[in-house]
Formats: sequence, structure tokens, C-alpha cells
Amino acid sequence: MTAPAPARGSEELIRAEEPVLAHNYHPLPVVVARAEGAWVEDVEGRRYLDMLAGYSALNFGHRHPALIEAAHRQLDRLTLTSRAFHNDRLAGFAERLAGLTGTDMVLPMNTGAEAVESGIKVARKWAYDVKGVPADRATIVVAADNFHGRTTTIVSFSTDETARAGFGPFTPGFRVVPYNDLAAMEAAVDETTAAVLIEPIQGEAGVLIPDDGYLAGVRELTRRAGCLFVADEIQSGLGRTGHTLAVAHESVEPDVVLLGKALGGGIVPVSAVVGRRDVLGVLHPGEHGSTFGGNPLAAAVGTAVVELLETGEFQRRAAELGAVLREGLAALVGRGVVGFRARGLWAGVDVDPALGTGREISERLMREGVLVKDTHGSTIRLAPPLTVTGEELRGALGTLEKVLTS
Ligand SMILES: Cc1ncc(COP(=O)(O)O)c(C=O)c1O
Repeated sequence: MTAPAPARGSEELIRAEEPVLAHNYHPLPVVVARAEGAWVEDVEGRRYLDMLAGYSALNFGHRHPALIEAAHRQLDRLTLTSRAFHNDRLAGFAERLAGLTGTDMVLPMNTGAEAVESGIKVARKWAYDVKGVPADRATIVVAADNFHGRTTTIVSFSTDETARAGFGPFTPGFRVVPYNDLAAMEAAVDETTAAVLIEPIQGEAGVLIPDDGYLAGVRELTRRAGCLFVADEIQSGLGRTGHTLAVAHESVEPDVVLLGKALGGGIVPVSAVVGRRDVLGVLHPGEHGSTFGGNPLAAAVGTAVVELLETGEFQRRAAELGAVLREGLAALVGRGVVGFRARGLWAGVDVDPALGTGREISERLMREGVLVKDTHGSTIRLAPPLTVTGEELRGALGTLEKVLTS
């Protein structure tokens, strides 16, 4: 019998990735082996407070007991049918999710980018079938500095050169206007416009929160122009900002909402396009699909996620602890922080560039046991699980203070 290979340490595992893993990410040098709630543990047993939460895919923390139980129960019964057949979990998931988001219909997908692609297809089909836009002439108005995913169509309307360069030719049919600029959006919308597609808060851009009135203005403008308002809530949605949807801050109801990340409870990829019947109803059998979209395991976990959100507890926690986060960050302004934007348990923090890049600050925080990630330049994003306690949050803010002031 050969002895089992000795367990590999962090450094060895990071070195082992180098030759075999495509270099499309630049992770912090931490190798996570297990996690519970807001905490993760690396292969050497060091513990870190997770202040990124999988870019909001872990809104309910790592391995939330109700979500793990739902997944285990489903794993023991049925995991995949494809949509060639019905499965006994999908109807309940769609009903609950439509109820939670106050709309009629659900198109289940897997990743965020797939939900965005699906939303684009629905908007174009609606433009041709309902609005009467001439074939292949539909346009979609998007915002500069957007982040909607990585597919070829989605990077076609990115303004981030790193995300685009080398990936052309690009998909036509998009008009880019500055974010938070209603006049520019109004000028870009015309009779060919199928939809305006925006993030209610731009996460990857550094948690950019538009002026009060912007989202209501987009709603009013799109209604007047006879085009759809598609809100990408893949990062901002499902409790993160203190509401189920970030558009609720302005009591706005988009025509279509795109959901992902936290919908899968940090267990499986689950995304969805949700909207009214007169919009999503434009799809007919054979026109769109996904082998894994709406699979019973995803539906079981997604239903458990919706059940957690139906209690309102997580939205409440995000709002209450968001006040702690804002207060803590405000106390750091002028002491290493030059500015910040925060809503709920979500903040973009601009660190004094003299103290280091966002990457360098993230590495220093990591060494002190707090995991965050830079967005760009000297900006870091804080997005802890909504299960984080006030004490843990204050601890992380204390660590940030130490890193910035020592
Ligand atoms: C607003 C937004 N839309 C879409 C996506 C893409 O999601 P995914 O990485 O699951 O494809 C992201 C991912 O960060 C996002 O933040």
C-alpha cells in the first residue's frame, strides 16, 4: 500500500495552480479550505472574516444551515431532469420568486451573465413582437462603467478596455451613456430602443450609488419612451442594500429584473430573469433555454433562499448593520480613507492612494485576518455576509483602521 500524499500547504497549492490554471483571475494569496457563517479557514487553519462574501453570492453566509439542509434533501432525491421533462421543484420556486419580487413570471438560468444575455434576448424579442421595431434594428441603452458579465455580447458594451481588448468583433445594438445622467439617457433613447439596462448601484465600478431620483427618472423616461427598464440586481439584489431589491430605495418597479449570485445560496449557480407576463410571455418553446436552468437542485436551494428573504430578517440586518458600517467608515475619513459610498451592508471605500493600491490594502487586511477585494485603483469593496454580527463588523473596521493608520 502506498502512503497517502501529504496534504499540500498554501504556498505549494498556489504554485501548483500556476502552470495548469488559465490566468483570468489574480486571487489574493489565501487558500481557503473550509468556512462557516462569516468566517473562512485556510489550509493551515488560519481564520479570516469574509468581508467579500463571494461578491454577494454568499449573502446568507457560508453554509447557512437551512440552505445546506435543502441541498442535502434534494441531493438525496433528484438533481437534474433538463427541461425536457417537468420536475417537482420548479413550479414552487418560480411561484415563490415571483411573489418575493412582486411580478408574474420567471425565466430560470444559472449564472449572472446568462441572466443578462437572457434579459437582452427577451428585450429584443419584445421590441420586435410588441413594440414593432423593424427586424434587427433594436437598440439597448446601457451605462458607462457597467459590469454585467463576461460573454462576448456583454463585453461588447463594456467600457473597461481590459474586459474588451482582444475579444472583438463585438455585438452591435448597444448605446452607452454616462451613468447617473438622465439627459444623456433621454438623448440616446429613440423608437428603436428595446430597453434601458442598468445596475441600480454599480458594484464593480466601486459601489457607485446614483443620485436620488435617478432610478425613478429612468422609470419615468422608459415608460414615456415606450421601452423596457431592465434592472441588473445580480449583485445589488436579494437583501444586500437593506431591501429585497435595490430599486426599492426609490420605490421603483422595473419591467424586468435580473437576479443571480445570492439566489444560489453560495451552493449552486442559480440566476433568473423575472418580469411581467406581457414581457416574458414573448418567449415560446424552442426560442431560448439552458440544460441546467431550473434544475431541481437549483430550484430547491433557490426556494430556500426565497424563504429566508421572505422573513425580512436579512434585509433588516443589512439596513441596521449598514448604519454601523457607514459610521465606522465615516470615522476613517481623513485617516486613510478619502471617501466612501455605502448602502446597506455594501460599501466602496476609496483609500488614500499614498497608502497603497486597493490590491495592496487588501493584502495587508488579509494578513490581519480580514478578506476584501479591490475594485480598481485604490478602491476596496466591503460586502460581508448579511449574517455578520455587529461585533464582527466593528472588528473588521478596527482592522481597516489599523492597516490604514499604522
Ligand atoms: C451586476 C452584475 N451583473 C452580472 C454579473 C455576472 O455574473 P456571473 O459572474 O455570475 O456571470 C455580475 C458579476 O459580478 C454583476 O456584478
